Amino acid sequence: MYYSDDIIEEVRQRSPIVDVIGSYVHLTKKGNNYFGLCPFHNEKTGSFSVSPGKQMYHCFGCGAGGNVITFMMEYENLSFQEALQSLADRAGIELPKDDGRQGSREERDQRAVLLAIHKDAAVYYCHVLRSEQGKPGLNYLKQRGVSDEMIRAFGLGFATQHSTALYQYLRSKGYTDKQLTDSGLVTVNERGAHDRFWNRVLFPIMDTNSRVIGFGGRVMGSGEPKYLNSPETRIFDKSRNLYGLNTAKRSREKYLLVCEGYMDVIAMHQAGFTNAVASLGTAFTSQHGMILKRYTEEVILCYDSDGAGQKAALRAIPILKDAGLRVRVLSMTPWKDPDEFIKNLGADEFRERIKNAENAFLYEIRVLRNSFDFNDPDEKSRFFNEAAQRIAGFSNEIERNSYIEAVANRYGIDYGVLRNQVSAIGAREGYVRREAYPERPKTLSGKSRGKDEGIRGTERLVLTGLSEHPEYYPAVRAFLSPGDFSDELYREVAGLLYDQLDHGKMSPGAILDRYVSDEDKCREVSAVFNAVLPEDTTEEEAREAYREAVQRVRENSVREKGKHISDPLELMNYLEEQKKLKENGFKL
Ligand code: CTP
Ligand code: MN
Repeated sequence: MYYSDDIIEEVRQRSPIVDVIGSYVHLTKKGNNYFGLCPFHNEKTGSFSVSPGKQMYHCFGCGAGGNVITFMMEYENLSFQEALQSLADRAGIELPKDDGRQGSREERDQRAVLLAIHKDAAVYYCHVLRSEQGKPGLNYLKQRGVSDEMIRAFGLGFATQHSTALYQYLRSKGYTDKQLTDSGLVTVNERGAHDRFWNRVLFPIMDTNSRVIGFGGRVMGSGEPKYLNSPETRIFDKSRNLYGLNTAKRSREKYLLVCEGYMDVIAMHQAGFTNAVASLGTAFTSQHGMILKRYTEEVILCYDSDGAGQKAALRAIPILKDAGLRVRVLSMTPWKDPDEFIKNLGADEFRERIKNAENAFLYEIRVLRNSFDFNDPDEKSRFFNEAAQRIAGFSNEIERNSYIEAVANRYGIDYGVLRNQVSAIGAREGYVRREAYPERPKTLSGKSRGKDEGIRGTERLVLTGLSEHPEYYPAVRAFLSPGDFSDELYREVAGLLYDQLDHGKMSPGAILDRYVSDEDKCREVSAVFNAVLPEDTTEEEAREAYREAVQRVRENSVREKGKHISDPLELMNYLEEQKKLKENGFKL
């Protein structure tokens, strides 16, 4: 860590969490807290809470949680230092300059090192592309029609046949083998060091702040695999990044174009469609959907026209809709992908296709239609049945009616007949969508689950209660010590909280500073301070429930201690203690 605790404290104190998060997420006040839609998972009801009292956020749906600094790190994909800098700028605080005395490279935040390695690697590969050795790469790009301007704008580079070139360059910059291995750009084993990429044109993958977080490499000519990408690292999560979004987010268009590949994005940008991004061959995820939703209301899918592209579109549509986006699908026929389309038919024709892009629901129905043989009356009626089923998935009547009309018109069926069919399904099963794509929120780290969850839940109640009722502290402190908590993390957090309360400045948000570099711990600590107290209870009932919780934690601790006693005398004392505990109990 190379900023003092005082500075971090000052930045945090002058960055009110409700103001900061409120500038990204729409928040509504409910009681002492604020609620909104969680930006870290996909949801329709707000389970994301922000507490000004605790200076923390916590999502009751997916378990995300932390303080104002971790929020910036997660939401903007920043390192700790960058998050601090960004908040300091916002609050008008001048951070002390890093004079290099405060920490060696090893001590810095690992993410910052990985970002620095990627930046250096990207500069290096760009340089190689423009050198004598880079000729094959440059020729390849030229032959594919990529302009100089695009080569520069996308920072394209080249890795030569020489398989240790990058390794040697980065070592000369002072990085260690461990750091380089962590970056995924190099492997080091008994047989020596090897670059991941060689003899490939390289596409740096950037986050939305235009920082390089990985690479995609295309082989020259034919060869396997055609594309090789960086592995996932601490800074590169494929399910959360879209190629080209750093540029596309600045486009003024009301929609974003989503395609499959690097070359498609570049071809589209070159033709003036600077609002194009790619999901990079990996499956489209709900995180992708939510990230897109930050920048636009509408997505036009430009996936390949082959079977795989069609499948990918069918998969992406419900995910995008769940993220709250309008979706249309662009037809590329007779060409395979945007790159080929634009080369053959030009930008004007592509613009025309954007204009005519098909409503995603009608696209789904059209794909469905193609799997039935209309010459067979039985198949024909099965198609209309299935279409009616899907239309019945719209809960909104106006929407339902306009789709009934569109489908009836397109496929030559009587409007009234189709409407009756839809109504019958609705009356029977309700107007709800049936092919649900389940949300998959990140779970808490494995060890927090299991049979000890009971006592841990009670321990969370105790600590949450303390953070909401610091007036309980003197009584609790006299009865329960941090060592009574069952789990190492809980003991540590309790110790920190007690310490704050001893000094009369309780702030769970500050405790989180310790855990910023470990997302799982952040989540667990945020859960510790966000136990759900039973609702609709009187103040007296809540007090009694709290009293019982404290008692239970203490009893559990004494019981656990008892398990390890073998000396008879000690055991007698222990049983005595346990008896007293039962009789006297905790008073509040
Ligand atoms: N992809 C990948 N690994 C592969 C093949 C593809 O990661 N082995 C990803 C790449 O991001 C690629 C995208 O999927 O850009 C689309 O794949 P494909 O349609 O095969 O690539 P094109 O862009 O058509 O490739 P090119 O035009 O360079 O032949
Ligand atoms: Mn292609």
